[in-house]
Amino acid sequence: MLAVAVLAAGKGTRMKSALPKVLQPLAGATLVERVLSSAANLKPERRLLIVGHQAERVEQQLASTGGLEFVLQQPQKGTGHAVQQLIPALKDFEGELLVLNGDVPLLRAETIDALVSQHRSSGADVTLLTARLADPTGYGRVFADTKGIVSSIVEHRDCSEEQRSNGLTNAGIYCFNWSALAEVLPKLSTDNDQGELYLTDTVEMLPCAMHLEVADADEVNGINNRRQLAQCEALLQQRLRNHWMDEGVSFIDPDSCTLSEGCSFGRDVVIEPQTHFRGDCQIGDNCRIGPGSLVENASLGAHVNVLHSVVREASVGNDVAIGPFAHLRPAAEVGDGCRIGNFVEVKKSQLGAGSKVNHLSYIGDANLGTNVNVGAGTITANYDGVNKHLTRIGNNSKTGANSVLVAPVTIGDRVTIGAGSTITKNVPDGSLAIGRAKQMTKEGWASRGE
Ligand code: UD1
Ligand code: MG
Repeated sequence: MLAVAVLAAGKGTRMKSALPKVLQPLAGATLVERVLSSAANLKPERRLLIVGHQAERVEQQLASTGGLEFVLQQPQKGTGHAVQQLIPALKDFEGELLVLNGDVPLLRAETIDALVSQHRSSGADVTLLTARLADPTGYGRVFADTKGIVSSIVEHRDCSEEQRSNGLTNAGIYCFNWSALAEVLPKLSTDNDQGELYLTDTVEMLPCAMHLEVADADEVNGINNRRQLAQCEALLQQRLRNHWMDEGVSFIDPDSCTLSEGCSFGRDVVIEPQTHFRGDCQIGDNCRIGPGSLVENASLGAHVNVLHSVVREASVGNDVAIGPFAHLRPAAEVGDGCRIGNFVEVKKSQLGAGSKVNHLSYIGDANLGTNVNVGAGTITANYDGVNKHLTRIGNNSKTGANSVLVAPVTIGDRVTIGAGSTITKNVPDGSLAIGRAKQMTKEGWASRGE
């Protein structure tokens, strides 16, 4: 039997944040969510999360993750104290306990698999992950012999100068035999620089402690401050971009672009500089996005160009051009072959295939048929100060420049709206509607008084 416990009760003092450390985001997911998902492969029988600082907020964030048992650590007196809180919950448990620090988010599932299988085959009481770091500042140092047997772990702040020169560091990821650990946990002491109970002290107390050194030290980066958060973000972004480049996506300037794990891209997509994808995005083949664009929780068909624009919670068909400087907002649904031009905002509206909104428009709460041509400066006046109302425009209709369509209003098929009109009444199919003051011209005005 395997139980996984994630330590997530700490405040994260060094982050200097109102947010508990484990809720800091990294490429669109929180640290604790990443740690939990790195162990999901193992299909553990029990999954426990030790919460303490802002426990409710952490629990709330993970409310939709099924099968988690929350264990409260109050107050927080160190990593050993955190694991002591598991004793009642795991009273009758037999098997291994995998302990994961909640601030080590880049671990690969394969690395955790390797740790658990080495632990099972060696018969040690605990096996921990280690890494050899060029700059081990801040990490606990692991003292081990050439056979991989660990004698002790000494925290950076408790190390002598000589001990600090040891580059073998503790990653904060351990596989314990629970019964052996449960026996030594009550014996931990606070005899250290921080006056805390350290989980790392259990390795000296257990009969046999071993370690597994990771090949890629980047995986075990622990996040204690904003600099480390930024370094991990950079590493994760690089992993994501490399993955998509291997899948046929081109980046003109990779380092200037960010992705999230929920993104998928077709073949021959070109991502121009300063372009960002957040949340869940599906991007079809042959799209060209950027420069300077943001796409968030959106889907784009094939052959879509997005130039200097923002596309959020919107869906776009095939062969569409967006921008420059367009804003697609939530529930914008843009059909195949549409064109959304400069300074155009579209919200909660459906645009049928081949429709064009080329310049300076607001289209909100509207339903446009196919091949509608929305003239420059056309506005759907959707809000009466209390409620939002719908504008409908039928197929093959055109609005003249600077039209205001006051919703609720229905414009039929093949309608032409005269430029500068304010339309407040429905317009039947095939009509011309003009709603503006008649022009008055006073000839000879310039030479009056001569
Ligand atoms: C810890 C290890 C150190 C290791 C490093 C790896 C100890 C004593 N030290 O140090 O050897 O090199 O991780 O990143 O374990 N937490 C609780 N309750 C507490 C204190 C902490 O749940 O009372 C949680 C934190 O939320 C965090 C994790 O435990 O997720 C680690 O705590 P942190 O304070 O970051 O330990 P480090 O100083 O990084
Ligand atoms: Mg830490």
